[in-house]
Amino acid sequence: MITRRPPGPKGNLLVGSLRDFGANPPEFLRQLAQMYGGMVHFRLAQYHTYLLADSDYVREVLVTQSDKFEKAPLDRQILGKFLGNGLLTSEGAFHARQRRLAQPAFHMKRIRTYAEVMVAYTDHLLADWQDGQKRDVAEDMMRLTMHIVSKTLFDADAVTEAEDTAVSVGRAIHDLQAVSNGDYRRGFVLPDWLPTAGNRQRKRAIADYSQTIERIIGERRATAVNGQIADNGDLLSMLMLSQDEDGGYMDDRQLRDEVATLFAAGHETTSNALSWTWYLLSQNPAAEAKLHAELDAVLEGRSPTLDDLPHLPYTLQVIKEAMRLYPPAWILNGRTPLTNVEIGGYAIPQGSMIFIAPYVMHRQPYYFPNPEQFLPERWTPEMEKSLPKYAYMPFGGGPRVCIGNSFAMMEAQLILATMAQRVRLRLVAGTAVQPEALITMSPAGGLPMIVAAREPRQEWKDTELPELVVV
Ligand code: HEM
Repeated sequence: MITRRPPGPKGNLLVGSLRDFGANPPEFLRQLAQMYGGMVHFRLAQYHTYLLADSDYVREVLVTQSDKFEKAPLDRQILGKFLGNGLLTSEGAFHARQRRLAQPAFHMKRIRTYAEVMVAYTDHLLADWQDGQKRDVAEDMMRLTMHIVSKTLFDADAVTEAEDTAVSVGRAIHDLQAVSNGDYRRGFVLPDWLPTAGNRQRKRAIADYSQTIERIIGERRATAVNGQIADNGDLLSMLMLSQDEDGGYMDDRQLRDEVATLFAAGHETTSNALSWTWYLLSQNPAAEAKLHAELDAVLEGRSPTLDDLPHLPYTLQVIKEAMRLYPPAWILNGRTPLTNVEIGGYAIPQGSMIFIAPYVMHRQPYYFPNPEQFLPERWTPEMEKSLPKYAYMPFGGGPRVCIGNSFAMMEAQLILATMAQRVRLRLVAGTAVQPEALITMSPAGGLPMIVAAREPRQEWKDTELPELVVV
């Protein structure tokens, strides 16, 4: 078969399209897809880069020919600095083993038990809120999801120790992301021995969170009876109890990498999905009213439970639509072909960089008419049936699809249902919200909003924080 290079901009002789890309990465990629079609070639400095914006091409890389691709070395190098060889960064047979070991922790039977925690922590957050108060809702969502992941991942309690544990691990991981964003912008990683401010910050942050996570793992080992780790219902005990076919367990180093990965991957994404949801609802009063009507009719003022979720279809549509417009993981990790490959008649050489961006896919007018509009109503069962697979992909796809997908969707729906019953959030006047596309996509500079109570304050409850249950 004759293969050719896909169309695309020539760019600057030295740096290719690096400057245009750097100015606004998601919009640059979206415009490329609009101008050139489903596959676009361009250069980012030395990297020959291929943007895939057609769901059939995406399927080839993530599913059909997935064994011919790996995550790009640049991504693995940058993320690996703080996530080690965890699920997000590992490859090949090792990744497959780790995925098998981690999967039971995310079994629906297990994560169902976290619903109560999610609702109780949301009640707890609202306990301090007052009508008319100004809050940075992006920061609130970040703290909330961080506390939930701390409780469900390593059973740290938000009111007592988790305030320290979650905050110290969280701060370290955020510092690391800031340094990593610098690496991405530069397009290469500075060697560890260079005494730069970023390297110093990274070293300090890694030492901080490693110490905390290693302490938690050590405490679990110390309380084992006859070498048997107790299952206390959290994800960590499941990871520690999980055995591969040869009877092997994860060692402490590997556990540390997996816990850091789940902590990092498991809260900022969900928190951004919720922040964007609040922003979009504040701009779309009709959708907000419809959401309130559904919640009021189904819940009649009580806290939501997992069993309510199937009866809250519009709540789910709101979240899906928010993640369509602002997918928290706006671009997947880069992929690189291990050999020369052919996709849709185009040649993609070994070692090149492949970009798959949910942000671009989700704003293609032929998949989503009126793509810029927030229309939760578009998510009808018929529409979902006719939508090509991988046109909507906030959680990626194939063997590397997000392991926390069901956890995150359950969490986002329960938090939204709990909060939207009690409060309406309005942007502080004069705030211009812009997306900031770093590793995840968040509202740049936070989300200053004013709280308007939907029901009298005395009816709000601060539920007692529940213990995890073992299933
Ligand atoms: C709205 C929330 C979330 C979004 C949008 C999201 C998105 C994604 C995406 C797009 C990927 C694939 C990355 C790629 O292929 O390059 C991924 C992978 C992953 N996510 Fe999530 N995620 C979310 C929540 C979570 C949660 C709650 C957890 C864990 C508690 C989690 C843990 C992971 C892990 C471990 C991977 C790597 C899986 C593997 O490669 O085997 N994520 N996520």
